[in-house]
Amino acid sequence: MTTRLDPDALLLVLGPRPDRDVGRWLQDGLRGAVVDGRLEAGTVLPSGRDAAAALGVSRGTVTTAVDVLVGEGLLVSRLRSGVAVAALPAASAAPSAAPRPASAPRPVSVGTPDPALFPRTAWARAVRDGVRGLADADLGYPDPQGLPVLREALAVHLRRARGAHVTADDVVVVSGVAQALSLLARLLVAGRVGGPAPADGVAVAVEDPSSRGALELLHDAGLRTVGVPVDDAGLRTDLLPDDARAVLVTPAHQFPLGVVLGPTRRRSLLTWAAAGDRLVLEDDYDAELRYDRQPVASVQALDPGRVVLLGSVSKLLSPALRLGWVVAPPRVVGPLVDAKRHTDLGTSVPEQAALAELLASGAYQRHLRRARLVYQRRRRVLLDALGRAVPGLEVGGVAAGLHLVVRLPGEAAERAAVDGLLAAGVPVEPLSGTGVGRREPGVVVGTARVREVDVPRVVDVLRGAAATTGSV
Ligand SMILES: Cc1ncc(COP(=O)(O)O)c(C=O)c1O
Repeated sequence: MTTRLDPDALLLVLGPRPDRDVGRWLQDGLRGAVVDGRLEAGTVLPSGRDAAAALGVSRGTVTTAVDVLVGEGLLVSRLRSGVAVAALPAASAAPSAAPRPASAPRPVSVGTPDPALFPRTAWARAVRDGVRGLADADLGYPDPQGLPVLREALAVHLRRARGAHVTADDVVVVSGVAQALSLLARLLVAGRVGGPAPADGVAVAVEDPSSRGALELLHDAGLRTVGVPVDDAGLRTDLLPDDARAVLVTPAHQFPLGVVLGPTRRRSLLTWAAAGDRLVLEDDYDAELRYDRQPVASVQALDPGRVVLLGSVSKLLSPALRLGWVVAPPRVVGPLVDAKRHTDLGTSVPEQAALAELLASGAYQRHLRRARLVYQRRRRVLLDALGRAVPGLEVGGVAAGLHLVVRLPGEAAERAAVDGLLAAGVPVEPLSGTGVGRREPGVVVGTARVREVDVPRVVDVLRGAAATTGSV
């Protein structure tokens, strides 16, 4: 039988209402009651209106608290019966150091969002409305450049959110940044973009450290990569090599170090590109998930004729959708559309229609605001706990995105941290594995799924690892 919590009983659970910061009181009180079992799994909370009236707070305060806790997996929102207390997942149970069995799921990539936050209802509605709006002619093979209504919606969004210089004609829809990189790499190797290919092969400058996956895609296509160090202001543009035809860079939130490319570096990057008629491939990684200020605009805004902007819904909605975009100058759009056509004849039209609808209806923005709130809080709670428990720990990166970097004293410490965090179900990658030339020990930790109940375990693992000495 379902237990419905009386609105007045809610006050008993929460304790006296403070005069200030009632939002925090409500969130922390509810969270505590769910975690320590005072509110049992399945208990249905009073409606937002009843709760607000009983507690003497606004409905907005109740909605925000409920949204945050739904995002943390502590409450579940059901279409008909309202908001209920979730059954706490096994991850919060006693830790186990047992190795993963052979049939265990694949490890989760560090830069992925929490699937519990995926806006299922909004997406389902967007699929329905988007598909209804399609003409019969749209249901043949797709336009390989992308569905016009999506390209238009993306152009509007990228102008507004990223300051990009873009119209629908400059947009090519792809199935993620990964596909964009593969296609562009092939075109660079063939000399179809970025100038004629030299006889000894085409070189591309990359950040050191970099995303392993991105480097593999470039190598697979036949490119040679040259690592260029990254410091606190991002890519060391003074060290960019003369022989590279392009550079791949993550200016908004460097992967993995989490720094932002500084304004002087942005200008010198473009000077280097102009001097050799080179391309800048701007992976707009994590760009919309900045927590402490407005996101820095894209580099593309400064030189749309030379910068190719790459983005996707993988970090904000889900990597399962395989939907992304490229904004490029006309000399790149033509060959890129050919390459896209030759690869897969275009991206799924119903999915494109759904994303167009999500953007146009404002549901994308609403999700962004909600997700930002949850991820910001998770990141802050983890950082605060680490700061208290392991004061000397070196944690890098600006307040943004879905991962953070922890530097560790050596290989053994790195191994211990990776093993411990994987056993705890936390997405993690060894920092040394992201090095191109330099191999620094540490871990890249995915923070999006680390809920408050998981924090003590993560802190324990990192405290233990930081105290580990010696080599493996
Ligand atoms: C730095 C970086 N860029 C791009 C990607 C690929 O993203 P997408 O899912 O859009 O292909 C990843 C994947 O995790 C990544 O780490």
